[in-house]
Amino acid sequence: MLDPQSVLISPALPDPWPRFEHPLKLGVLASGRGSNLEAIAASIQRGELHAQIQVVIYNNPQAAVAERADRLGLPKVLLNHRHYPSRESLDQDIIQTIQAHGADWVIMAGWMRRVTQVLIEAFPGQVLNIHPSLLPSFPGIHAVEQALAAGVKLSGCTVHQVELQVDSGPILIQAVVPVLPEDTPDTLQARIQAQEHRIYPAAIALAASHSST
Ligand code: GRF
Repeated sequence: MLDPQSVLISPALPDPWPRFEHPLKLGVLASGRGSNLEAIAASIQRGELHAQIQVVIYNNPQAAVAERADRLGLPKVLLNHRHYPSRESLDQDIIQTIQAHGADWVIMAGWMRRVTQVLIEAFPGQVLNIHPSLLPSFPGIHAVEQALAAGVKLSGCTVHQVELQVDSGPILIQAVVPVLPEDTPDTLQARIQAQEHRIYPAAIALAASHSST
């Protein structure tokens, strides 16, 4: 019998959480609500993820993440993609903003823009993304709807290092959740998001542990 609460996370969440020579310096890119930003900030606050959020970059003036950044006391910068002639020129400004704030990890948390090689090469192995499916299944937009339409019985979320192709690159951690017969996009999304909030801080710690060994 399927337990609707059952979750599988692989690899396991850190215990204890690793400490680094210095706290990791994060720049978070977000386009929407920012619940992953908040989860990362909460993990740092609890003394788990050994990091500091140096700056939150958002691309949409209306994004709720801007208010969240204010509430969390985090510096925020609006880089409105509509004001850039190319993806590369936006990425150049992202690099400049991240570096100006002393960050060197690029944490895409619901960043709804395709990034270019310009950004990926500026922070090798240190551009991370979260996606609400078990990649490589269902990349791109509407991943939750895609999973429901395909009739999969298990879905979840993935944190990976970013490569050029959308939602591709080495996988750091995944969480698996059941898909229930009565699920709607909203209910499945909520079940997945609860796990996103657990695995993203862990994935950052994991990636940093790999890069410091
Ligand atoms: C998450 O579901 C993430 O997987 C996707 O965008 C959503 C962002 O949610 N890439 P939030 O803005 O962090 O609440």
